[in-house]
Amino acid sequence: MSVLLEIRGLEVGYGAIPVLQGIDFDVEEGKTTVLLGLNGAGKTTTVGAISGLLKPWGGTISFEGERIDGLEPPALVDRGVTLVPEGRRVFPALSVAQNLRLGSWTKRKRGAELKDAEEKVYDYFPILLERRTQMAGTLSGGQQQMLAVGRGLMSLPKLILIDEASLGLSPALAKTVFNIVDRINADGTTVIIVEQNVGVLKHADNALVMEKGEIVYRGSGEELRSGDELRRTYLGGGDEEAAPAVARPTPAPAQAAAQASAPATSDDEPRSRRRSRARRAGKPGTG
Ligand SMILES: Nc1ncnc2c1ncn2[C@@H]1O[C@H](COP(=O)(O)OP(=O)(O)OP(=O)(O)O)[C@@H](O)[C@H]1O
Ligand SMILES: [Mg+2]
Repeated sequence: MSVLLEIRGLEVGYGAIPVLQGIDFDVEEGKTTVLLGLNGAGKTTTVGAISGLLKPWGGTISFEGERIDGLEPPALVDRGVTLVPEGRRVFPALSVAQNLRLGSWTKRKRGAELKDAEEKVYDYFPILLERRTQMAGTLSGGQQQMLAVGRGLMSLPKLILIDEASLGLSPALAKTVFNIVDRINADGTTVIIVEQNVGVLKHADNALVMEKGEIVYRGSGEELRSGDELRRTYLGGGDEEAAPAVARPTPAPAQAAAQASAPATSDDEPRSRRRSRARRAGKPGTG
């Protein structure tokens, strides 16, 4: 495996209050890593530090083997590190197409690649093509979320960090967004996705769980998803696409056993197999 992002001893806080007190983790190139944890665990703080919005107090952040801690967000976007921030911050008075174009500002000299990126975004999210002249502020919440992800992709990232992609979305829409994250990853972009929805685990190669500013679990998405005990310990149970990672009743034993022995549906397909299928499907754009 090759490590794209290496975090060592990262300390960050607000004012005089520390939040992250020396966390370490690696992000593998070409993989999807999910960062889970309850409200206030420090997820947004972590991606904020990686994307340059927050200045680290200590520790190092290395990307492609070079130190990037302390760089400003535009310099990071330039290197290929792009954040899709929490709360879908689109420009409400600009059209969908204008919002997407703004995402490519730092890469404006790479015309041909941007044309491809734009086509890809419209292919991932056909609704955005349909609504390309509509003011972003009048899109539905889910559509704005898609636009926020699309705008991030327009900066041609090597690493895209998506903070709470499914927040406020219906279960079906959350699933749609996660499936597109699979495609984005299959198309070659490394993904860090912050979530409270454990449904994302089906779409993750690697999982990190944060608690009170610390990483309390690291493993594969599949291990965390299939290990009832693990999931209950770190996330309070639950395994539906829509389920938040907060305590909720675990299934009755009979129900759990039935779920465990049910034949694998495409939804239960392990992450590695889903991805190779997505790759085999080849370059999108013909449908
Ligand atoms: N601008 C800020 N000023 C002061 N404290 C902050 C600020 N932003 C976050 N914090 C604090 O830092 C801690 C971690 O917050 P963070 O936003 O990283 O959590 P999170 O895991 O993203 O939570 P959520 O799931 O609710 O988005 C919390 O205790 C929060 O109150
Ligand atoms: Mg957050």
